[in-house]
Amino acid sequence: MKDMKLKPAKGPVHGELDIPGDKSVSHRGVILGSLAEGTTKVTNFLTGEDCMRTVNAFKLMGVEIKENGTELTITSKGYKHFNEPVEPIYFGNSGTTARLMLGVLAGLPLFTMAYGDASLTRRPMDRVIKPLSEMGASITGRKNNTYLPLSVSGGSLKGINYTLPVKSAQVKSAILLAGILAEGETEVIEPTPTRNHSENMLEAFGANISRHNTKITVSKSSLKATDVFVPGDISSAAFFMVAAAIKPGSSLTLKNVGLNQTRTGIIDVLIEMGASVTISNQATISGELIGDITVKYGELKGATINGDIVPRLIDELPVIALLATQAEGETVISDAGELRLKETDRIEAVVDGLTRLGANVEATEDGMIIKGKSLLHGGQVKSYYDHRIAMMHAIASLVSDEEIIIDDVSSVAISYPDFFKDLAHIISE
Ligand code: S3P
Repeated sequence: MKDMKLKPAKGPVHGELDIPGDKSVSHRGVILGSLAEGTTKVTNFLTGEDCMRTVNAFKLMGVEIKENGTELTITSKGYKHFNEPVEPIYFGNSGTTARLMLGVLAGLPLFTMAYGDASLTRRPMDRVIKPLSEMGASITGRKNNTYLPLSVSGGSLKGINYTLPVKSAQVKSAILLAGILAEGETEVIEPTPTRNHSENMLEAFGANISRHNTKITVSKSSLKATDVFVPGDISSAAFFMVAAAIKPGSSLTLKNVGLNQTRTGIIDVLIEMGASVTISNQATISGELIGDITVKYGELKGATINGDIVPRLIDELPVIALLATQAEGETVISDAGELRLKETDRIEAVVDGLTRLGANVEATEDGMIIKGKSLLHGGQVKSYYDHRIAMMHAIASLVSDEEIIIDDVSSVAISYPDFFKDLAHIISE
């Protein structure tokens, strides 16, 4: 347990930050680079714990992966040459590793076992096990094939037509990955768009994939090794975007951040609530739009967040709740029941923490109602070993009038190992 005491910040936050690589894109770079035959370099790779779980999974199957800082070099003979792992694969805290790897393992003629940490062991896996079983994989897990630990006997898959019952990029990606290893066509219909990094990267690696409105079609593919540049993670940048928006007099620039349309809901919300956001230096690299984001403090007002925007900001909702405590009026977040199935129940965790700090936040079944503006005071809060809850509370200390003590911040290593260094940098600069 590593607790953290954060003193209230006196002045505004300002300066520039290089935001570490995107977690979602990093996972996918390792996966496709390992499935492809040849050598793939992944630059600006996120070396957080979650992405390293995906790296280790492929190392166990015999893929050569060398790490040099934030550059990965993957040398693979292609998926047909993977070894059967001689030990169970550990997915740690990483939902993305678990769901996407199940898609891959389902398509390989191997027997594998997998397990996770206490949090991941409580998260539903049936959302991927069901469609992958329909494709022909044999997956057996705890509680009637719902949870980890589980075992997979894969291979000999056939394509399916599947309409996503949950708004989940992880489920979509698991089916697409199985689909490129299956006989026949796999069609996924996605009623509400979710992050599309898998589709973008499959295209870049030469997979057989086509996209028409809400329908994505894939078929058996041999991938060609392709270098990947990982943009800065907008979900990590979000903590500092909110920091600048809530602290009077602040201006912060976050460099080379991914601006993929399926991820930029936080920018729309900040603008709607009254912060100033400008984008500069836009470019497209490895099929993903990137740019620098400058956020300045503004007088904030409440907003309604629901419907199609929710998947575009799902991971940012804890810090958006903090933002709403500093806005005049009511913010109503709904259609976000998925928050209860993340690393922890993020609705309960946010309501618990912000209430302890003096905010007016109420949980609903699928969201939260926040009434602002509240002066936050200090106090003791819990991270629930959830990286995004820990970082949200750290940002709260910028506007609290006394010290905030977070019980355990070790989880920040999952997505943003240098978070506290970067936070100190913008306060003291
Ligand atoms: C992710 C998808 C989202 C997101 C998670 C990363 C991905 O999860 O919350 O942090 O990389 O595909 P869901 O697919 O469960 O919504």
